Amino acid sequence: MAWTRKDLIAMRDLEAAEILTLIDTADSLQEIATREIKKVPALRGKTIVNLFYEASTRTRTSFEIAGKWLSADVINFSALGSSASKGESLVDTAKNIEAMSPDVVVVRHPASGAAELLARELACSIVNAGDGAHEHPTQALLDLLTIREKKGHFEGLSAAIVGDVAHSRVARSNIHGMRKLGMTVTVAGPPTLIPPFVQELGVKVAYRLEDAIRDVDVIMMLRLQQERMTGGLIPSLREYSHYWGLTLDRLAAHARPDVLIMHPGPVNRGIELSPEVADGPYSVILDQVAKGVAVRMGVLFLLAGSKTGEAA
Ligand code: NCD
Repeated sequence: MAWTRKDLIAMRDLEAAEILTLIDTADSLQEIATREIKKVPALRGKTIVNLFYEASTRTRTSFEIAGKWLSADVINFSALGSSASKGESLVDTAKNIEAMSPDVVVVRHPASGAAELLARELACSIVNAGDGAHEHPTQALLDLLTIREKKGHFEGLSAAIVGDVAHSRVARSNIHGMRKLGMTVTVAGPPTLIPPFVQELGVKVAYRLEDAIRDVDVIMMLRLQQERMTGGLIPSLREYSHYWGLTLDRLAAHARPDVLIMHPGPVNRGIELSPEVADGPYSVILDQVAKGVAVRMGVLFLLAGSKTGEAA
């Protein structure tokens, strides 16, 4: 399916065919990582601005690498040290950046809806790299590419998304993506970390780890988003990890032998995952990071590349 959108804001907006176009494009670009000279001319002369108002390691770095491998000029704009800390509004900052004629602005912001606001205000393409607890579409796309590569397909697969679902933009984007591609999804966590009405997104809910991980193909563990919690949602980290921490013993007792363990990072070892699980044979956490570069290349290419040409 041909890509026609100006922006990538939310998995909720996309049709299954559009999600597959994004994943297939990323898949075809993965091979660039194995080349001796990791550069193709697809975005030569294009300018990409990374506008990050929240901390990021993997996402910001992989957007930068992706842009550079496609020969774009990439500028990293961190809100710390910019005029945002002097009180300039997001829209004013973005209009000033737009005056410098970028082709794509990649934005991460603590407010849900920030990316959509910029998409409405600015003529250039906007990519949502995480807006509050709302969506993080490129994370879901890299998760989906990882799942397809390991399992070969989506239809009929099942996933458990475990932990702080309430504050997780990763969970929300994955729920939409997985459901549209024919997967079944169970979300699980302490009741205070499960959003009300989450069943309306077409998911099942479990309140015990053992129930969630039984017989699923994919277990996606989430970090407790303490920076988004207003307090009092879990009694203590110790108690949380006692009930919700994924250990080898729990996996052996309840999960399938071919289950995939995923985590968007950053991992809090010993809280949501034991180190043996994070580094163990079921874990595809580093595959996810590698796919992150391919997915961001695919997204940037579809938004800013020639609409007719091949990327590589
Ligand atoms: C996630 C994020 O920032 O939403 N990380 C990421 O992008 N890889 C998840 C998290 O911070 O827990």
